[in-house]
This record gives sequence, C-alpha cells and structure tokens, in this order.
Amino acid sequence: MTDIKKGLAGVYVDYTAISKVNPETNSLLYRGYPVQELAATQPFEAVAYLLWHGGLPTDDELAALRATERAHRGLAPEVKAAIDLLPTGAHPMDEIRTAVSVIGATETAGITNVLDAVGTPAENLERSVRLFAALPAIVAYGQRRRRGLDPVEPRDDLDYSANLLWLTFGEEPDPVVVDAVNRSMILYAEHSFNASTFTARVVTSTLSDLYSAVVAAIGALKGPLHGGANEAVLHILNEIGDAANVVPWLDEALGQKRKIMGFGHRVYKRGDSRVPTMKAALDMLIAHYDRPDVAELYETLEREFVSRKGIYPNLDYPSGPAYNLIGFDVLTFTPLFVASRITGWTAHIIEQQSANALIRPLSEYNGPDERHVPGYVADAAALAVADRPEESAG
Ligand code: CMC
Repeated sequence: MTDIKKGLAGVYVDYTAISKVNPETNSLLYRGYPVQELAATQPFEAVAYLLWHGGLPTDDELAALRATERAHRGLAPEVKAAIDLLPTGAHPMDEIRTAVSVIGATETAGITNVLDAVGTPAENLERSVRLFAALPAIVAYGQRRRRGLDPVEPRDDLDYSANLLWLTFGEEPDPVVVDAVNRSMILYAEHSFNASTFTARVVTSTLSDLYSAVVAAIGALKGPLHGGANEAVLHILNEIGDAANVVPWLDEALGQKRKIMGFGHRVYKRGDSRVPTMKAALDMLIAHYDRPDVAELYETLEREFVSRKGIYPNLDYPSGPAYNLIGFDVLTFTPLFVASRITGWTAHIIEQQSANALIRPLSEYNGPDERHVPGYVADAAALAVADRPEESAG
C-alpha cells in the first residue's frame, strides 16, 4: 500500500537557509534572527535585504537598497492601463496578479529563447527589488480606484510602510500606524515552505521566470486557507458584530462545522509565534483609535474558540482587525500580505534556482481500470509506446 502524504503534511521536500519554523519552541527565525526581534528593531527594507542576502545590511547597504526601491515606486502606464481594463468589482488579488503579469511580460519582452527565461541570480535580485518597489503602488491604486479617487504619486522621503500608507490614503501617515504596518510587513514576509512559497518554487523548478512564479504564488495566497484568511477574519468579525453575540454565533458555526478563519495552522499546533507581536501592534492601534469594542470582540472570540477547540489564532487573526482599524478596504488585506511576502517568495525563487531539481511528485492512481474506446484499433507504434514500462507522461 502506497503511503500517501495528503497535502504533503509532515513531508520535508528540500533544504532552505531562509527561515526556520520551530513549532516545538514556537519560534520563527529569518536567516537565524527571531522574527520578534526583527519586528521590534528593523525597518522592513532591512528585513527584505536580510531575506535576499542572508545578513542584515550595513548603513551603506541599506541606503543603496532604499535608493533603488524609491527609484522604482512609480506605476508604469501599461500597468495602470491593464488594471483599468478590469471591472471595479474585480478582487484586488486579481488586479495584483494581472499587474505582476504585465510587469513580467514587459520586463522579459525580447527574450526569444525560453532557455533564457529563468534569468541569472543577479537579474532576479534586481527584478525582485523592482517588484517589491512597485507593489505598494499597485495595492494603493486598486483601493483608490474602487473608491473613485485619483492615484497619488509616491514620496521618496518616506520609508516603505509610510509610503504605502501615503499612496493609499493620500494623507501624512501617523507614526503609530506606520509602526504597526512595518511590524505586520516583517511578520508576513517569510514562512518557509508555505503553500504560496512552495507554489513559487514549483514554477521556478521548471526553469520558468520569476514573474510567472510570483503570479502563481499570488493565486495560491488568495485562498482563505492561506493568505485570504486575513480578509475572511473580517467577514467573520463583521458577521458576529458584537462581543455579546460570540457564544450563540460560535454555537451555530461549530454546529455547522464551519472553519473559523484566523485560527489553526498546519505547522504550529500550540500557537503561532507571530501572533503576540501582531496582537501588540493591534493593541497599539486600538488605543490610538480608541476602539475598546474591537479588543472585546477579538478577545471574546479567541477565548471561546480556544476553550472549545484547543486551536489557537494565527497571524491573520490580529492582522485583519489591525488593517481594518487603519482604514484599508477589507478586500485589500491579502494584497498587503503580497506587498510583504514578495520578499520571501523572491528569496525562495533565487534559492530554488541555485540548487534546482524539477519538483514533480508521484500520484497513486485510483481511477477506472484500463479500458478501450469501442471500435479503436491500435496501431503498432502506439502499442510500442504503451508497452514501455516507465511512466512516459510529463
Ligand atoms: N476552525 C474550525 N476547525 C478547525 C480550524 C478552524 N479554523 N482549523 C482546524 N480545524 C479542525 C479541522 O476541522 C479538523 O478537525 P477534524 O479532525 O475534526 O476534521 C482539525 O482541526 C484539523 O484541521 P485541518 O484543516 O485538517 O488541519 P490542517 O493542518 O490541514 O489545517 C488550516 C490548517 C490553516 C488549513 C486550518 O487550521 C484552517 O482551515 N484554518 C482556517 C483558515 C486560516 O486561518 N488560514 C490561515 C493559515 S495561517 C496564515 C497563512 O497562511 O496565511
């Protein structure tokens, strides 16, 4: 009997030097540094540098990255035009997927040999920084378009998180809010072989290009079992409405065997190591906006759900209400995750290229036994191929 590892649960498929998730000690290390330390001390750009290069930047290295990032913050006209072709009801994750696809097609135009599509590590690092630079403008463009607002131009006197807020709201960002966004960007940046990163690695393993890998990763992240959970958390909190409704709502939801979004994790079973840091950022925002009702609802649902199921919150649980308090559209929450995870995805794409093996697992067939189309007469050549013992399909 073949030992099927459904969902690849518990399967190690490769090495990575980018991050280490340790559910036993409830820790997450980026290139050896605990993520909590990074969130408390670093600007997001320094963490991006760390993920790409393996060490924290010197002042000069950080300044150089910032200069390049700030120089590429604007949106190319063809990207705006492509987004504008989409209906305003399109999900912003579809806008971002389209935008990255357009950037990729533009930047790789002229490559006429598919063997050159994959690019060198140096080219891919440059592509990564340019995508990183463009994403806040893409996210903000979508939210402003849905609200009927003109886009605002990026500001090169602001860091990544502050510029993201400026582009979205067109107002001088408050330092408390910038700090919360910066922390969320760092916490979302990287998480080993999660579904979207693994997707990016699968695409890269075929020697396809970085943009195709990122587009595929965006598709994987959209799902509510993965990044879409931060949006889904808000739908649930809105459905409950008030802390007083938590118990009857939960009775009914669990009676219907609904999944409660923002809880549970494939790897962490005793709590997500990123949650306390993001919860502290949420608490800062709750105090800043004077919204104790948000804390009451959040904590009541957590208490009730954990006591009944023993399943703990994941990062999306505090991130959803934090982004909501700041004023992002609920549909913009997962795109914010993209603006962060682009760093981890691209670090993994470059790592996969550096020691590539085509990712192609096996499946155990459980369909009908061999059968034949009535009236078909096999020719000798087809029979010769069918008789070969090895699997012949790609
Ligand atoms: N609500 C209710 N029941 C749950 C939940 C939940 N959030 N999470 C797990 N369970 C139950 C599940 O129903 C199953 O019960 P049973 O054994 O009785 O059928 C058991 O716990 C195991 O769950 P599973 O879904 O088989 O476990 P998994 O390791 O495949 O799931 C998960 C991990 C994240 C898909 C799941 O916990 C889930 O669906 N959570 C809700 C969505 C969510 O918050 N996703 C974000 C994940 S973390 C951050 C990120 O990637 O963005």
